[in-house]
Amino acid sequence: MIEARAINATAVRADFPILGRSINGKPLVYLDSAATSQKPAVVIDIMDDYYRRYNANPHRGVYTISEEATAAYESARQQVVAFINAASGKEVIFTRNTTEAINLVRYSWGRANIRNGDRILLTEMEHHSNLVPWQLLAQEVGASLEFLRIDDQGMLQLDELDARLEGVRLLAITHQSNTLGTINPIKAITAAAHRAGALVLIDGAQAVPHMAVDVRDLDVDFYAFSGHKMCGPTGIGVLWARRALLEAMPPFLGGGDMIKRVKLHEASWNDLPWKFEAGTPSVAEGIGLGAAVDYLKNLGMDQVRTHERTLVDYALEKLQEIPGIVLYGPRDPEIHGGSISFTIPDIHPHDLATLVDREGIAVRAGHHCTQPLMDRLGVPATTRASFYIYNQPDEVDQLVSGIQKAQKVFA
Ligand code: ALA
Repeated sequence: MIEARAINATAVRADFPILGRSINGKPLVYLDSAATSQKPAVVIDIMDDYYRRYNANPHRGVYTISEEATAAYESARQQVVAFINAASGKEVIFTRNTTEAINLVRYSWGRANIRNGDRILLTEMEHHSNLVPWQLLAQEVGASLEFLRIDDQGMLQLDELDARLEGVRLLAITHQSNTLGTINPIKAITAAAHRAGALVLIDGAQAVPHMAVDVRDLDVDFYAFSGHKMCGPTGIGVLWARRALLEAMPPFLGGGDMIKRVKLHEASWNDLPWKFEAGTPSVAEGIGLGAAVDYLKNLGMDQVRTHERTLVDYALEKLQEIPGIVLYGPRDPEIHGGSISFTIPDIHPHDLATLVDREGIAVRAGHHCTQPLMDRLGVPATTRASFYIYNQPDEVDQLVSGIQKAQKVFA
């Protein structure tokens, strides 16, 4: 067994109340953080404190607790600004999640800019949330979808990139595959896309929680991510976009807070970012996300990445010792984020996930919202173990022994 470096996972675990639970008489081994991460007490407590002490509708009241709610919610936005190195809060739109952020771009920018005959380039490894919105837009306006292929190690075939970018209006691509764990070289891909005149949207749901992301250094145009995969609550996500794009885009949802002046037959729009935030926002969730960002910042995102790389390195080595296992995704931990997908001969992933649950181990089984990727891999489903800051090498050992026990059941 090797020691994970940089982060003291034992100390980190003490911050997460749920990790004290037992499941089926065994300590919970939570290996499904790619689906949703667990929440530290600081996030749970700050949301509780909001509801207990200053619950009020922000941006509307002139009374004390509404002003407190506004200040806390807007301060969370500033924490996100610093975390991803945005230029200002005007570029950081709070949404419900990554899916809503991508759909915002589809409705607002997409309908205004993608025309009949235009091309949108995606990849074979996209989550349904960065595929289905573009299918819907393409069907609506008569655009076509093209796909960058992956090789047998689950890496994009980037030698094809320049040729595939010809005539493309938008490249929409995941930063890190939720199924394969592949970390895509976004900066280089974006530079190529811009040379070809395409805009670039990044699905960062699996990246922002796990590595330092600097949207200005990446030089992308749109970047979407969710709070609940980065120690924050559900119901809050982020769309970052270049200010000039957001200024030119029409609103997505209409209603309260997104307007400047409303008359019976017309309205004018609020300033950024509120132009895209109609209705009462997810206040507690926004404040919770701010606390999650603080928590991760204190750990250090480079340390988070180092910790996961060490775990993935160890997990790839140990899992390969299981007879017959098929691992999907890169073998090089340098470009392999914290999600590892695999299949075991003669055991359906759902059966495997059910059997290891008896040992207290939570893994995801299924298509992971990437059905076209499953088609490409030639399997209906995989089992996926995904790691985060609170996981330790001995949990990899427990997973391996859980799989070996399951193999005995099916032998
Ligand atoms: N996108 C989440 C996952 O990969 C739900 O599990």
